[in-house]
Amino acid sequence: MDQLTLRTPDDWHLHFRDGDMLPETVPATARCFQRAIVMPNLIPPVTSTQMVNEYREQILTARPEGSTFEPLMTLYLTNNTTAEDIREAKQNGVVAAKLYPAGATTNSDAAVSALDELYPVFEVMADEGMLLLIHGEVTSADIDIFDREKAFIDTHLKRIVDSIANLKVVFEHITTKDAVEFVASAPERVAATITPQHLLLNRNDLLVGGIRPHNYCLPVLKRNTHQQALREMVATGNSKFFLGTDSAPHAKHRKESDCGCAGCYSAWSALELYAQVFEELNALDKLEGFASEHGADFYGLPRNEGSVTLVREPWQVPDEITLPNGEPIVPFFAGQTVNWQLK
Ligand code: DOR
Ligand code: ZN
Repeated sequence: MDQLTLRTPDDWHLHFRDGDMLPETVPATARCFQRAIVMPNLIPPVTSTQMVNEYREQILTARPEGSTFEPLMTLYLTNNTTAEDIREAKQNGVVAAKLYPAGATTNSDAAVSALDELYPVFEVMADEGMLLLIHGEVTSADIDIFDREKAFIDTHLKRIVDSIANLKVVFEHITTKDAVEFVASAPERVAATITPQHLLLNRNDLLVGGIRPHNYCLPVLKRNTHQQALREMVATGNSKFFLGTDSAPHAKHRKESDCGCAGCYSAWSALELYAQVFEELNALDKLEGFASEHGADFYGLPRNEGSVTLVREPWQVPDEITLPNGEPIVPFFAGQTVNWQLK
Protein backbone atom coordinates (compact mmCIF):
# COMPACT_ATOMS: atom_id res chain seq x y z
CA MET A 1 0.00 0.00 0.00
CA ASP A 2 1.47 3.35 -1.04
CA GLN A 3 -1.31 5.67 -0.06
CA LEU A 4 -3.34 5.87 3.09
CA THR A 5 -6.42 8.01 3.66
CA LEU A 6 -7.66 8.49 7.20
CA ARG A 7 -10.50 10.36 8.81
CA THR A 8 -8.86 13.62 10.00
CA PRO A 9 -7.05 12.79 13.24
CA ASP A 10 -6.83 14.64 16.57
CA ASP A 11 -3.92 14.95 18.96
CA TRP A 12 -5.16 14.14 22.46
CA HIS A 13 -2.08 15.50 24.26
CA LEU A 14 0.38 18.21 23.33
CA HIS A 15 2.25 21.33 24.48
CA PHE A 16 1.96 24.48 22.37
CA ARG A 17 3.68 26.78 24.93
CA ASP A 18 2.71 30.44 24.56
CA GLY A 19 3.89 33.82 23.26
CA ASP A 20 6.23 33.71 20.31
CA MET A 21 6.39 29.90 20.30
CA LEU A 22 2.80 29.74 19.01
CA PRO A 23 3.43 30.82 15.39
CA GLU A 24 5.64 27.72 15.16
CA THR A 25 3.72 25.15 17.18
CA VAL A 26 0.11 25.82 16.19
CA PRO A 27 0.60 25.56 12.39
CA ALA A 28 2.77 22.46 12.86
CA THR A 29 -0.12 20.68 14.52
CA ALA A 30 -2.92 22.27 12.48
CA ARG A 31 -1.30 20.93 9.28
CA CYS A 32 -2.89 17.53 9.94
CA PHE A 33 -4.82 17.48 13.21
CA GLN A 34 -8.32 18.96 13.51
CA ARG A 35 -8.28 19.25 17.32
CA ALA A 36 -5.75 18.95 20.10
CA ILE A 37 -5.87 18.69 23.86
CA VAL A 38 -3.65 21.56 24.95
CA MET A 39 -1.60 21.03 28.10
CA PRO A 40 -1.74 23.82 30.68
CA ASN A 41 1.84 23.73 32.04
CA LEU A 42 2.78 27.26 31.07
CA ILE A 43 4.70 29.68 33.26
CA PRO A 44 2.58 30.59 35.16
CA PRO A 45 0.33 27.52 34.81
CA VAL A 46 -3.21 27.81 33.44
CA THR A 47 -5.12 27.48 36.70
CA SER A 48 -8.27 29.56 36.11
CA THR A 49 -10.97 29.98 33.52
CA GLN A 50 -9.76 33.47 32.79
CA MET A 51 -6.29 32.15 32.02
CA VAL A 52 -7.77 29.39 29.86
CA ASN A 53 -9.76 31.94 27.85
CA GLU A 54 -6.74 34.17 27.31
CA TYR A 55 -4.61 31.20 26.27
CA ARG A 56 -7.29 29.92 23.87
CA GLU A 57 -7.41 33.34 22.17
CA GLN A 58 -3.63 33.33 21.71
CA ILE A 59 -3.80 29.90 20.09
CA LEU A 60 -6.68 30.83 17.80
CA THR A 61 -4.76 33.92 16.66
CA ALA A 62 -1.77 31.76 15.75
CA ARG A 63 -3.75 29.49 13.42
CA PRO A 64 -2.77 29.60 9.77
CA GLU A 65 -5.09 31.58 7.48
CA GLY A 66 -8.30 29.68 6.85
CA SER A 67 -7.55 26.93 9.38
CA THR A 68 -10.46 25.48 11.33
CA PHE A 69 -8.16 23.84 13.87
CA GLU A 70 -9.80 23.71 17.32
CA PRO A 71 -7.79 23.79 20.56
CA LEU A 72 -9.41 21.80 23.38
CA MET A 73 -8.42 23.50 26.60
CA THR A 74 -7.43 22.03 29.95
CA LEU A 75 -7.13 23.34 33.49
CA TYR A 76 -4.00 22.80 35.60
CA LEU A 77 -4.88 21.33 38.99
CA THR A 78 -3.16 22.61 42.12
CA ASN A 79 -3.63 22.00 45.84
CA ASN A 80 -5.91 25.04 45.78
CA THR A 81 -8.24 24.09 42.92
CA THR A 82 -11.84 24.34 44.12
CA ALA A 83 -15.16 22.83 43.07
CA GLU A 84 -16.13 26.27 41.82
CA ASP A 85 -13.02 26.44 39.60
CA ILE A 86 -14.10 23.18 37.98
CA ARG A 87 -17.71 24.24 37.43
CA GLU A 88 -16.69 27.59 35.98
CA ALA A 89 -14.17 25.96 33.67
CA LYS A 90 -16.70 23.40 32.49
CA GLN A 91 -19.19 26.15 31.68
CA ASN A 92 -16.49 27.81 29.58
CA GLY A 93 -15.90 24.75 27.44
CA VAL A 94 -12.90 23.31 29.27
CA VAL A 95 -13.05 19.58 28.59
CA ALA A 96 -10.50 18.27 31.07
CA ALA A 97 -8.21 19.04 33.99
CA LYS A 98 -4.60 17.89 34.19
CA LEU A 99 -3.09 16.35 37.26
CA TYR A 100 0.68 16.69 37.57
CA PRO A 101 2.20 15.38 40.76
CA ALA A 102 4.35 18.31 41.94
CA GLY A 103 7.85 18.11 40.50
CA ALA A 104 7.07 15.24 38.10
CA THR A 105 7.95 17.15 34.94
CA THR A 106 8.38 20.48 33.12
CA ASN A 107 6.64 23.37 34.94
CA SER A 108 4.97 21.15 37.51
CA ASP A 109 6.39 22.73 40.66
CA ALA A 110 3.11 24.54 41.32
CA ALA A 111 1.09 21.36 40.87
CA VAL A 112 -0.39 18.86 43.27
CA SER A 113 1.61 17.85 46.33
CA ALA A 114 -1.37 16.66 48.41
CA LEU A 115 -3.12 14.36 45.99
CA ASP A 116 -5.44 12.78 48.55
CA GLU A 117 -6.94 16.16 49.37
CA LEU A 118 -8.04 16.59 45.79
CA TYR A 119 -10.60 13.76 45.89
CA PRO A 120 -13.51 16.17 46.50
CA VAL A 121 -12.45 18.01 43.33
CA PHE A 122 -12.36 14.71 41.42
CA GLU A 123 -15.94 14.07 42.60
CA VAL A 124 -17.05 17.39 41.16
CA MET A 125 -15.26 16.62 37.91
CA ALA A 126 -17.12 13.32 37.67
CA ASP A 127 -20.45 15.11 38.30
CA GLU A 128 -19.65 17.75 35.70
CA GLY A 129 -18.44 15.26 33.10
CA MET A 130 -14.96 16.76 33.03
CA LEU A 131 -12.14 14.32 32.26
CA LEU A 132 -9.13 13.85 34.54
CA LEU A 133 -5.86 13.67 32.60
CA ILE A 134 -3.03 12.23 34.65
CA HIS A 135 0.73 12.46 34.44
CA GLY A 136 1.16 9.15 36.24
CA GLU A 137 4.49 9.17 38.02
CA VAL A 138 5.30 9.35 41.71
CA THR A 139 8.00 11.82 42.63
CA SER A 140 9.51 10.57 45.88
CA ALA A 141 13.29 10.51 45.81
CA ASP A 142 13.46 6.90 46.98
CA ILE A 143 11.58 5.57 43.94
CA ASP A 144 13.77 4.87 40.92
CA ILE A 145 12.83 6.94 37.87
CA PHE A 146 12.19 3.79 35.83
CA ASP A 147 9.71 2.53 38.45
CA ARG A 148 7.75 5.72 38.94
CA GLU A 149 4.88 4.95 36.58
CA LYS A 150 4.19 1.55 38.12
CA ALA A 151 4.45 3.03 41.61
CA PHE A 152 1.88 5.67 40.65
CA ILE A 153 -0.55 2.99 39.48
CA ASP A 154 -0.16 1.09 42.74
CA THR A 155 -0.24 4.07 45.09
CA HIS A 156 -2.72 6.41 43.44
CA LEU A 157 -4.28 5.46 40.16
CA LYS A 158 -6.05 2.29 41.29
CA ARG A 159 -7.51 4.19 44.21
CA ILE A 160 -8.67 7.17 42.13
CA VAL A 161 -10.35 4.88 39.60
CA ASP A 162 -11.95 2.69 42.28
CA SER A 163 -13.21 5.46 44.51
CA ILE A 164 -14.60 8.02 42.03
CA ALA A 165 -17.23 5.96 40.29
CA ASN A 166 -18.09 8.04 37.22
CA LEU A 167 -14.82 9.83 36.61
CA LYS A 168 -13.32 9.47 33.14
CA VAL A 169 -9.55 9.16 33.41
CA VAL A 170 -6.89 9.39 30.73
CA PHE A 171 -3.57 7.94 31.82
CA GLU A 172 -1.32 10.13 29.70
CA HIS A 173 1.71 9.08 27.65
CA ILE A 174 1.98 5.60 29.12
CA THR A 175 5.35 3.91 28.93
CA THR A 176 5.17 0.52 30.64
CA LYS A 177 3.68 -2.94 30.31
CA ASP A 178 2.18 -2.31 33.75
CA ALA A 179 0.28 0.69 32.44
CA VAL A 180 -0.89 -1.17 29.34
CA GLU A 181 -2.23 -4.00 31.51
CA PHE A 182 -3.79 -1.65 34.04
CA VAL A 183 -5.70 0.32 31.40
CA ALA A 184 -6.76 -2.76 29.45
CA SER A 185 -8.33 -4.31 32.54
CA ALA A 186 -9.74 -1.10 34.04
CA PRO A 187 -13.38 -0.01 33.58
CA GLU A 188 -14.40 1.47 30.20
CA ARG A 189 -14.04 5.00 31.60
CA VAL A 190 -10.25 4.62 31.76
CA ALA A 191 -8.10 5.15 28.66
CA ALA A 192 -4.53 6.05 27.73
CA THR A 193 -2.58 8.11 25.24
CA ILE A 194 0.63 6.82 23.65
CA THR A 195 3.37 8.97 22.07
CA PRO A 196 5.35 8.22 18.93
CA GLN A 197 8.62 8.19 20.86
CA HIS A 198 7.46 5.51 23.30
CA LEU A 199 6.40 3.31 20.37
CA LEU A 200 9.58 3.90 18.36
CA LEU A 201 12.25 3.96 21.03
CA ASN A 202 13.45 2.41 24.24
CA ARG A 203 16.02 3.49 26.80
CA ASN A 204 18.90 2.23 24.66
CA ASP A 205 18.00 5.03 22.26
CA LEU A 206 18.59 7.45 25.12
CA LEU A 207 21.78 6.03 26.60
CA VAL A 208 23.71 3.67 24.31
CA GLY A 209 26.71 5.20 22.53
CA GLY A 210 26.27 8.57 24.23
CA ILE A 211 23.45 10.51 25.86
CA ARG A 212 20.78 11.58 23.34
CA PRO A 213 19.16 14.61 24.91
CA HIS A 214 16.60 14.96 22.13
CA ASN A 215 15.17 11.56 23.06
CA TYR A 216 14.81 12.61 26.69
CA CYS A 217 11.20 13.01 27.72
CA LEU A 218 9.07 12.24 30.74
CA PRO A 219 8.02 9.65 31.61
CA VAL A 220 11.50 8.56 30.54
CA LEU A 221 11.89 5.88 27.84
CA LYS A 222 11.78 2.39 29.36
CA ARG A 223 13.37 -0.96 28.53
CA ASN A 224 12.51 -2.66 25.25
CA THR A 225 10.06 -5.13 26.83
CA HIS A 226 7.86 -2.19 27.84
CA GLN A 227 8.13 -0.67 24.37
CA GLN A 228 7.10 -4.06 22.99
CA ALA A 229 4.00 -4.16 25.22
CA LEU A 230 2.90 -0.74 23.96
CA ARG A 231 3.44 -1.80 20.36
CA GLU A 232 1.54 -5.04 20.80
CA MET A 233 -1.38 -3.22 22.36
CA VAL A 234 -1.79 -0.60 19.62
CA ALA A 235 -1.63 -3.37 17.03
CA THR A 236 -4.72 -4.98 18.56
CA GLY A 237 -6.84 -1.90 17.85
CA ASN A 238 -8.11 -1.75 21.44
CA SER A 239 -10.23 1.41 21.64
CA LYS A 240 -8.93 2.43 25.08
CA PHE A 241 -5.63 3.51 23.55
CA PHE A 242 -5.30 6.55 21.33
CA LEU A 243 -2.98 9.12 19.82
CA GLY A 244 -1.39 11.77 22.03
CA THR A 245 1.92 13.03 20.70
CA ASP A 246 3.10 14.89 23.81
CA SER A 247 4.87 17.13 21.30
CA ALA A 248 6.81 19.38 23.68
CA PRO A 249 9.19 21.97 22.22
CA HIS A 250 12.28 23.19 24.02
CA ALA A 251 14.93 25.36 22.35
CA LYS A 252 18.08 23.47 21.37
CA HIS A 253 20.24 25.00 24.11
CA ARG A 254 17.69 23.97 26.76
CA LYS A 255 17.94 20.33 25.62
CA GLU A 256 21.70 20.23 25.01
CA SER A 257 22.54 21.36 28.50
CA ASP A 258 24.05 20.07 31.72
CA CYS A 259 20.48 19.88 33.01
CA GLY A 260 18.51 19.26 29.84
CA CYS A 261 14.74 19.73 29.57
CA ALA A 262 12.37 16.80 28.99
CA GLY A 263 10.31 16.78 25.81
CA CYS A 264 10.36 15.76 22.15
CA TYR A 265 9.08 18.24 19.57
CA SER A 266 7.35 15.80 17.27
CA ALA A 267 4.56 17.86 15.67
CA TRP A 268 6.24 17.94 12.24
CA SER A 269 6.49 14.16 11.92
CA ALA A 270 4.23 12.54 14.50
CA LEU A 271 1.36 11.34 12.34
CA GLU A 272 3.81 10.02 9.75
CA LEU A 273 5.83 8.23 12.44
CA TYR A 274 2.75 6.58 13.90
CA ALA A 275 2.02 5.32 10.37
CA GLN A 276 5.54 3.95 10.21
CA VAL A 277 5.08 2.09 13.50
CA PHE A 278 1.71 0.65 12.54
CA GLU A 279 3.18 -0.50 9.24
CA GLU A 280 6.07 -2.21 11.02
CA LEU A 281 3.45 -3.92 13.16
CA ASN A 282 1.48 -5.01 10.11
CA ALA A 283 -1.43 -3.10 11.56
CA LEU A 284 -1.98 -0.15 9.22
CA ASP A 285 -5.68 -1.00 9.29
CA LYS A 286 -5.68 -0.08 13.00
CA LEU A 287 -4.14 3.38 12.53
CA GLU A 288 -7.39 5.21 11.81
CA GLY A 289 -9.04 3.98 15.01
CA PHE A 290 -6.01 4.99 17.06
CA ALA A 291 -5.52 8.38 15.39
CA SER A 292 -9.02 9.49 14.48
CA GLU A 293 -11.74 7.60 16.34
CA HIS A 294 -10.93 6.19 19.78
CA GLY A 295 -10.02 9.55 21.32
CA ALA A 296 -13.09 11.40 20.07
CA ASP A 297 -15.32 8.53 21.18
CA PHE A 298 -13.76 8.47 24.64
CA TYR A 299 -14.08 12.24 25.08
CA GLY A 300 -17.69 12.06 23.88
CA LEU A 301 -16.96 14.38 20.94
CA PRO A 302 -17.98 13.85 17.31
CA ARG A 303 -15.49 12.16 15.01
CA ASN A 304 -14.06 14.56 12.41
CA GLU A 305 -15.69 14.67 9.00
CA GLY A 306 -12.69 15.39 6.79
CA SER A 307 -9.75 13.23 5.78
CA VAL A 308 -5.97 13.37 5.40
CA THR A 309 -3.87 11.33 3.02
CA LEU A 310 -0.42 9.94 3.64
CA VAL A 311 1.74 8.79 0.75
CA ARG A 312 4.78 6.55 0.81
CA GLU A 313 7.42 9.13 -0.09
CA PRO A 314 10.42 8.98 2.22
CA TRP A 315 11.65 12.35 3.51
CA GLN A 316 14.19 13.50 6.03
CA VAL A 317 13.27 15.39 9.18
CA PRO A 318 15.38 18.60 9.24
CA ASP A 319 18.34 18.75 11.62
CA GLU A 320 17.04 22.00 13.02
CA ILE A 321 14.09 24.34 12.78
CA THR A 322 14.30 28.06 13.61
CA LEU A 323 11.82 29.29 16.19
CA PRO A 324 10.07 32.64 15.63
CA ASN A 325 12.43 34.21 18.20
CA GLY A 326 15.40 33.13 16.07
CA GLU A 327 16.52 30.29 18.35
CA PRO A 328 17.12 26.86 16.86
CA ILE A 329 15.15 23.83 17.98
CA VAL A 330 15.94 20.22 17.14
CA PRO A 331 12.77 18.37 16.11
CA PHE A 332 12.09 14.80 17.11
CA PHE A 333 13.69 12.27 14.71
CA ALA A 334 16.00 15.01 13.36
CA GLY A 335 18.07 13.94 10.37
CA GLN A 336 16.28 10.60 10.14
CA THR A 337 14.12 9.24 7.37
CA VAL A 338 10.35 8.98 7.66
CA ASN A 339 8.65 6.69 5.17
CA TRP A 340 5.26 8.40 5.00
CA GLN A 341 4.50 11.94 4.00
CA LEU A 342 1.36 14.04 4.31
CA LYS A 343 -0.06 14.74 0.87
O1 DOR B 1 8.71 15.14 28.20
C1 DOR B 1 7.84 15.86 28.66
N1 DOR B 1 7.77 17.17 28.33
N2 DOR B 1 6.97 15.34 29.53
C2 DOR B 1 6.08 16.09 30.16
O2 DOR B 1 5.36 15.56 30.96
C3 DOR B 1 6.07 17.57 29.97
C4 DOR B 1 6.64 17.95 28.69
C5 DOR B 1 6.96 19.43 28.61
O3 DOR B 1 6.12 20.24 28.99
O4 DOR B 1 8.03 19.77 28.13
ZN1 ZN C 1 2.78 16.27 28.08
